[in-house]
Amino acid sequence: MRGFYLPLLAAIGSSGPTFAALAPAATSLSYVISPPVADGGKAWKDAHAQAAELVAEMTLEEKVSVVTGQAGPCAGNSGNVTRLGIPKMCFQDGPAGVRPSLGNTQFPSGVTTAATWDVDLIYARSYAMGKEFYDMGVHVAMAMVTGGPLGRSPYGGRNWEGWYADPYGTGIASWYGVRGMMDSGVQTCSKHFGFYEQETYSIYNASEQLPVSSNVDDKTSHEIYLWAFAEAVRAGTTHIMCAYNCINGTHACANSEANNGLLKGELNFQGAVISDWGGVWGTQGFAMGGLDVNMPGRGYGNVLGPFFDQELYHLVSNRSIPETRLNDMVARALTPAIVTGQLDKPLPSIAINSVGTKNWPVPATYRNVQKKSTIELVRKISTDGTVLLKNTGGLPLKNPQNIAVIGQDAGPNILGLQGCGKLFRDCDIHNNNGTLSLGGGSGYAWPLNLITPLDAIQAAALKARSLVQFVLNNTAASVIAETVTGSALPIGPPDVCLVFADRYMRENMDRNDLSLNIGNWTHSEDIIVQTAATCNNTVVVLHVGGPVIMEAWIDNPNVTAVVAPLFPGEQTGPGLVDILWGRVSPSAKLPFTIAKQESDYPPDTISYDHSVTPQANFTEKLKIDYRWFDTYNITPRFAKSSPYSKEFGFGLTYSTFEYNHIELKDTMRPDEHAIQETKEKFAGQKGDESLYDILVTVTAAVTNTGDWTASEVAQLYVEFPATEDEPPRLLRGFAKLKNMKPGSTVKASFPIRRKDVMIWDVHDQEWRFPEGRNVTFHVGASSRNLLLSLEHTF
Ligand SMILES: *[C@@H]1O[C@H](CO)[C@@H](O)[C@H](O)[C@H]1NC(C)=O
Ligand SMILES: *[C@@H]1O[C@H](CO)[C@@H](O)[C@H](O)[C@H]1NC(C)=O
Ligand SMILES: *[C@@H]1O[C@H](CO)[C@@H](O)[C@H](O)[C@H]1NC(C)=O
Ligand SMILES: *[C@@H]1O[C@H](CO)[C@@H](O)[C@H](O)[C@H]1NC(C)=O
Ligand SMILES: *[C@@H]1O[C@H](CO)[C@@H](O)[C@H](O)[C@H]1NC(C)=O
Ligand SMILES: *[C@@H]1O[C@H](CO)[C@@H](O)[C@H](O)[C@H]1NC(C)=O
Ligand SMILES: *[C@@H]1O[C@H](CO)[C@@H](O)[C@H](O)[C@H]1NC(C)=O
Ligand SMILES: *[C@@H]1O[C@H](CO)[C@@H](O)[C@H](O)[C@H]1NC(C)=O
Ligand SMILES: *[C@@H]1O[C@H](CO)[C@@H](O)[C@H](O)[C@H]1NC(C)=O
Ligand SMILES: *[C@@H]1O[C@H](CO)[C@@H](O)[C@H](O)[C@H]1NC(C)=O
Ligand SMILES: *[C@@H]1O[C@H](CO)[C@@H](O)[C@H](O)[C@H]1NC(C)=O
Repeated sequence: MRGFYLPLLAAIGSSGPTFAALAPAATSLSYVISPPVADGGKAWKDAHAQAAELVAEMTLEEKVSVVTGQAGPCAGNSGNVTRLGIPKMCFQDGPAGVRPSLGNTQFPSGVTTAATWDVDLIYARSYAMGKEFYDMGVHVAMAMVTGGPLGRSPYGGRNWEGWYADPYGTGIASWYGVRGMMDSGVQTCSKHFGFYEQETYSIYNASEQLPVSSNVDDKTSHEIYLWAFAEAVRAGTTHIMCAYNCINGTHACANSEANNGLLKGELNFQGAVISDWGGVWGTQGFAMGGLDVNMPGRGYGNVLGPFFDQELYHLVSNRSIPETRLNDMVARALTPAIVTGQLDKPLPSIAINSVGTKNWPVPATYRNVQKKSTIELVRKISTDGTVLLKNTGGLPLKNPQNIAVIGQDAGPNILGLQGCGKLFRDCDIHNNNGTLSLGGGSGYAWPLNLITPLDAIQAAALKARSLVQFVLNNTAASVIAETVTGSALPIGPPDVCLVFADRYMRENMDRNDLSLNIGNWTHSEDIIVQTAATCNNTVVVLHVGGPVIMEAWIDNPNVTAVVAPLFPGEQTGPGLVDILWGRVSPSAKLPFTIAKQESDYPPDTISYDHSVTPQANFTEKLKIDYRWFDTYNITPRFAKSSPYSKEFGFGLTYSTFEYNHIELKDTMRPDEHAIQETKEKFAGQKGDESLYDILVTVTAAVTNTGDWTASEVAQLYVEFPATEDEPPRLLRGFAKLKNMKPGSTVKASFPIRRKDVMIWDVHDQEWRFPEGRNVTFHVGASSRNLLLSLEHTF
């Protein structure tokens, strides 16, 4: 969703020939003639039958109203058919909590949650968040981000909304993300499908330029970008949002190969494809191209175009669109409401839009839906999602008596929580006040009670009656100098200088570099460099949503520790203090790779093609993030004098771990988990064998050899034979071994499914084992710290 484009589009105008002028035709004749029709799949047969009965009772107008967004209190509102008990359903953002409203939680970002590598926390966050949506009266939560973006480009403005720069990791997170929300009673919307990896040129500027086209080959599509959507479908996601961008030159929401072929065909998706707000630019080509629900449709006074609605009515009346297609669209929209029980039991009344009310058509409502347990959960995720990147003895803090806190990122926004705009945390680079707990755009959620790092540090320091001095102005160089050298005070230099640095990221704006200074404005890097030059115990805290280049300061021996809580949500202070004061040993690991220099990443991952039809060619293919570094043997952030390599899956702890005894057991077990089953094929498939059957289980013994009770994220990577055109190593398993006592040993267990050891065969259009059916399994502490391995022939 991209609501702040509404004024722009309003200015362009909502009618006239310009909307359709550049709309490319829908392709793939076979899917246009007969798009896959839902039957409810494995889990929703009864619900689908019930939906079909309702459809049979409906008039053409009623059907059209259910699949065309209507005016209403929510970001999206479907049409009600009151005589049949079908309510007007409320669709609302976003992936870090309900928005735009007060009275609910600002959850940690996807990327912080990913850094925990803890599926229990991923599930718990989703469940708690889903409950808040439900309690606010929202039927469909527009969450989770499911590998759109996945993180192809380190510059991507929305990467922090999602999970790992890896399909397997994001697939696991998508599974637990969907399960948690569905269990809470809310419908889900996995997004953005597909190949949505940049903000630049991603919205159709109507008269002048098509959205950027993601041109992705079939193998990369299957092995990278489709993977997490397959997991979301299996987990029973009810909606999938088609993206703004084009795919191979056709709008994603009208792309029949993508929607009818991949999603509804191969993945057997039984729910509704709904458009992103501003992703629809026609009716017939979109309905036949697989779009089921047009949002926001008539919402916002039709500002995003007159599509579906009357035109759909006429096209079905004169048989240009078969009524069976419309019936399928409506059934797909209603089945999820039946599945979640929302048709039987009305939701609480709608209490959203309490932020920026004057811009919305409904009066403000305030309802506090936050639970005490959710505050604890959010704190735990921010603690367990804080990655320790460097530690030469700075952490944990050793009862400091004199603490300096440097940086605007440590404290509150002096303009208040809404100081960055009414509807979004739409700060431009000239408003970067206060700690950055989340990125901006439609993925932002307002905190109920944001506890800043400074608040929490002061509370922690109170116990030892320590001196806490702080400077929250990044350009007050002389005051910073006096504070970090202690020159102005008789007490002398601080025992520790905590420097807070951030880098803002948001929807609608890719980063133009990976620096901590934004232009000549934020000076986040400058304050680290300045502090480290004079304070010999400088501890750096990074609030960033993706990689930043650290070369200017990382090897300075005065930088004794670096932690990255990423974007940790409203318990940012308490979560951080747990790590700084050593109440918890850090256990997070990076969900992306940090490079030494920008040119180490794959080139041109944001297309700035200034043409009418901009193209983004995904030429790096499978080699995103760590796969690129491994293929070309590029060392991630690393210098000879320092042992700190910042690769995918990397993170330090206060303890130490040893890995021993890798073993493999045949544990053939049919897939019992899938809520819905895909129709993905594989070579040699027999009977009801599934791509997701567990073939073998790899185990390794992990021992806590340090002095701390600590958790470890053990990871499994597969290596395919060199004859296959694959990156050196692919993540295919992870296990969070929690709260291990010193000296204790735990068995990390990695169930390996068929798909995990298969490759997409473009020629045969099915998955297959690699040549010789040989796979090497590596187990270790990160993508480059692989301590054990074994070979297996399937
Ligand atoms: C939708 O709900 C409104 C408000 O309850 C009602 O006035 C209207 O008749 C309903 N529309 C349909 C088609 O049921
Ligand atoms: C639309 O895109 C063209 C081509 O990039 C650009 O010149 C123009 O300024 C854009 N218009 C708007 C309204 O953004
Ligand atoms: C896009 O085009 C490439 C190259 O022709 C093809 O391999 C791929 O399958 C296409 N993707 C879709 C969704 O049509
Ligand atoms: C069907 O209706 C649509 C929308 O009103 C119109 O554009 C189209 O020409 C009609 N087609 C036929 C065959 O009448
Ligand atoms: C704080 O926000 C105000 C208002 O947007 C802006 O003028 C000011 O420059 C910001 N200060 C900093 C340090 O970013
Ligand atoms: C921050 O410090 C600089 C340099 O002393 C000063 O110019 C600026 O006004 C200060 N900003 C605020 C918000 O006080
Ligand atoms: C950055 O800002 C400072 C002080 O505002 C100014 O003196 C300097 O010229 C600026 N540098 C650049 C590269 O714009
Ligand atoms: C480290 O800090 C000390 C002051 O304690 C300073 O003299 C020294 O130059 C600093 N080292 C570096 C490499 O900045
Ligand atoms: C850091 O500086 C303080 C104060 O000057 C000094 O007491 C301490 O020994 C220094 N530590 C190191 C590791 O150099
Ligand atoms: C994308 O690939 C096409 C076909 O190879 C090529 O013609 C075009 O120039 C490429 N565009 C960009 C922006 O790289
Ligand atoms: C597969 O692995 C086995 C040992 O497990 C080895 O004997 C065989 O040569 C390997 N085959 C290939 C094609 O690498």
